Amino acid sequence: MKKGKKLYEGKAKIIYATNDKNLVIQYFKDDATAFNNQKKTTIEGKGVLNNRISEHILSNLSQIGIKNHLVKRLNMREQIIKLVEIIPIEFIVRNVATGSITKRLGIEDGTVLKEPLIEYCLKDDKLGDPLIAEEHIIAFDWASKNEIDKVKKMILRINDFMIGMFRGVGIKLIDFKLEFGRLKSNGKQEVILADEISPDTCRLWDSITDKKLDKDRFRKDLGDLIPAYTEVAKRLGILHEQSNVSAVNVTKLSSVKRKKK
Ligand code: TMP
Repeated sequence: MKKGKKLYEGKAKIIYATNDKNLVIQYFKDDATAFNNQKKTTIEGKGVLNNRISEHILSNLSQIGIKNHLVKRLNMREQIIKLVEIIPIEFIVRNVATGSITKRLGIEDGTVLKEPLIEYCLKDDKLGDPLIAEEHIIAFDWASKNEIDKVKKMILRINDFMIGMFRGVGIKLIDFKLEFGRLKSNGKQEVILADEISPDTCRLWDSITDKKLDKDRFRKDLGDLIPAYTEVAKRLGILHEQSNVSAVNVTKLSSVKRKKK
């Protein structure tokens, strides 16, 4: 597999072409942004952890029949993924109210929702990813009714699976963001899960202490983001218990593990 030219650079990832027109390489950067790019920094080792955690979650989702873009992890920062046409919607799934919804609707932080709530935001940085209704998606043809119905079914299965997976390792899945894309093959088109699922795109709280183990550590200036993401990786069984939490060691560990294979 040959790495080709850069096709797209987002806030946390870069997409490169390959010599196979159906596959691209997804590179995880160490850049962290929040509040639509108003707050930015670089956190050494974040990309390595997100690559590993996202690979773990998407592989597990594949095993329960949720089709997604992951083909395989290439190295500590890169994955080979299927090229899809991204639907320009961020699908937000909430189990507990926190973050933007508490401010927007005056809901008390930590309110447990009776059932999962799906919200839609238009993926448009210039407009600040505005909240939209399902009717807007249909009216402006960002996705069809059939696509939205299929996505909603997938979202509820993904949420059920991830709640259980995290509960098993002492973590509450508070909310998360998903993206989906259209995959064209043999003249047919289907919608599959795309992008990443990591502590950058989920809110994860320790089950007992409610300690935040996600990007809120950066958004809210809580510090210790790498130890928190490392803790998530260790609990999911991706990193060994004895792994040191420093970014440099995470980087070293990943390369040592690969060389042994
Ligand atoms: P919010 O409370 O800021 O709307 O975020 C809800 C969830 O979606 C939270 O887990 C963070 C995630 N998210 C992203 O991954 N990317 C984004 O651009 C936004 C706004 C939220």
